[in-house]
Amino acid sequence: VTVKYVDHQGTVTELEVAEGTSVMQAAVNNGLAGIVGECGGAAMCATCHVYVDEADMDKFPAISAPEQEMLDCTSSPLRPSSRLGCQLKLKDEHGAVTVYLPETQQ
Ligand code: FES
Repeated sequence: VTVKYVDHQGTVTELEVAEGTSVMQAAVNNGLAGIVGECGGAAMCATCHVYVDEADMDKFPAISAPEQEMLDCTSSPLRPSSRLGCQLKLKDEHGAVTVYLPETQQ
């Protein structure tokens, strides 16, 4: 899966990510600034907040109740496309996915 991370200044980082990896984990593994992932992917910290490109939103399962609760705690503004990156598991069938990084995670 190709994941494009676009930071708040418009800088694009493209990563090739193995199936089963989350949007947060792939970013952390590659030392990408802009995603923190403090809780390690347990939907407990909201420092993996991303805005999913509209064209890619349907590729992921709906927001769960715990995810919604944490999304209410993000430090950057919530948008309809807001998700927790740790809850977005990538699959080969996704092809390519684009996410936008908020200006700050804490
Ligand atoms: Fe903590 Fe996603 S890594 S909520």
